[in-house]
Parts: sequence; structure tokens; C-alpha cells
Amino acid sequence: MRKNIAAGNWKMNLDLEAGKKLASEVVNMVNDEVSNDAEIILIPPFIHLTAVNQLIGSASNIQLGAQNCHQEKGGAYTGEISLEMLKSVGAEYVVIGHSERREYFGEDNALLAAKTKAVLDNGLKPIYCCGEKLDVREADKHFELNKEQIVEGLFDLSKDEILNVVIAYEPVWAIGTGVTASNEQAQEMHAFIRGLIADKYDQETADSISILYGGSVKPGNAKELFEQPDVDGGLVGGASLKSRDFTDIIKSF
Ligand code: 13P
Repeated sequence: MRKNIAAGNWKMNLDLEAGKKLASEVVNMVNDEVSNDAEIILIPPFIHLTAVNQLIGSASNIQLGAQNCHQEKGGAYTGEISLEMLKSVGAEYVVIGHSERREYFGEDNALLAAKTKAVLDNGLKPIYCCGEKLDVREADKHFELNKEQIVEGLFDLSKDEILNVVIAYEPVWAIGTGVTASNEQAQEMHAFIRGLIADKYDQETADSISILYGGSVKPGNAKELFEQPDVDGGLVGGASLKSRDFTDIIKSF
């Protein structure tokens, strides 16, 4: 179901105490200040999921997400985390195919398609990431590249399945750089992605999927980005590590 979403991807940051402090501050600020109906997702490192879930408690507008998963059910995969495990600690969402996973851990579209399917088969919701690097945009191949990532990662899914996917467009050149895509650049790519879904499935399906923007989202630019007709929220990195900034982003809807 299409909804406004603000997701905070903590990446590999914060020890347990700092993570608990951040989560409890966000929960308190959201309770005190947020009156819109946006869904908020906290995405800490695996090892903090249980603690953060306890702090979220019964706040029904705040959900828990994981940054990655393994696609197999379980077994001899040293160092990996299964979807059963994620479910058992309260995760509802799993980020799949973040550009850092693609870049540093060699995750390709075929693997990400398998992970996405496994997330859905376990009753969780994938946040499937796509996005081009700067050289690709400069070569004017960004639509082609994002299309490839969407088609190869998602289009083996049935209509019922893709309705449970959240997509995040994160241009790599805007991640952690302080350079945000312009409102026009974000809107143009989001509309393109929604169009791909409409062509493959149908318009109603495309209109039911949340497409988030990620890449240097901050309190100062969130409102205008979220006002774009095809931008349904943000996947926030750096600014999600500060409770004040993240809450102000949530309040931008
Ligand atoms: P920044 O908000 O730090 O640019 O990170 C974006 C991101 O990668 C979120 O997944």
C-alpha cells in the first residue's frame, strides 16, 4: 500500500548505548511532535535490533528494519543472518541491494532478486534499492541502469508480491556527499520507475507502491523532495543518526 515513509538507515554506526539513546530519543520526539500518518522505520545494525525493538514498544507508527539478510533458510553460512532470525526479533522490513552492498560486497541483481523473493516468502517487506553512480549519469545512461536494476531485481515477482515491495532510488553520487539530487532529478527518476511498474504490471499496481528517495536527505531539503508527486518519502543515512534531524525530516510530510 502506498504510504509516506521515513526510513533511517544507521549503516555500520553507533555502539549499543548510543543506538539505544538514539532510538529512545526518536520514539519520544515522534510521540510528542509527529501528527502526520507517515510510517517511520528504524534500521539499525543487526546486533541492535532486539534492543531497538524493545524501545519502539507499542508505537504503532514506528517499525523495525534490517539492513540486509541471507536468502537461504539457515545452515552453514557463517556470519550471515536469516529471515527467520530477523522475524523473531521483530523486523518488518529488510533493505535489499543498497549501493554499498552492491559496491563493497559484490551483490548483483540476480542475488538481489533471490533475496527479495526470500524476504517476501517470509512475510517481511523488502526495501529494494536502485541508483546510478556519477559516471553513469554523466554518460546519460542512468535511466537504462536503473531500469536494469528494477527489471532484473523485481520483475520476476507476481503482482501480489510487488505490492509489498518498497523501492528506494538512491543515486550513488548523492549518498553521504551532501549533494542531493534536485527535486526535478528525483521526480523524473521516480516517475520513470513508476512507469516501468505500470508497463510490466498495471497503473493501479504502480500507483500503490511507495518509492523513496535517498541521498543526503536533510531537514532543509526533505519537504520539497517529499512534495514531488512520485516521491513518497526518504531513506535517510547520516541525518537519521541525529534524533532532532530525523524527527524534523519525519515532520516534513
Ligand atoms: P545519506 O543520507 O547519508 O546520504 O545516506 C543515504 C543512504 O544511503 C541511505 O540508505
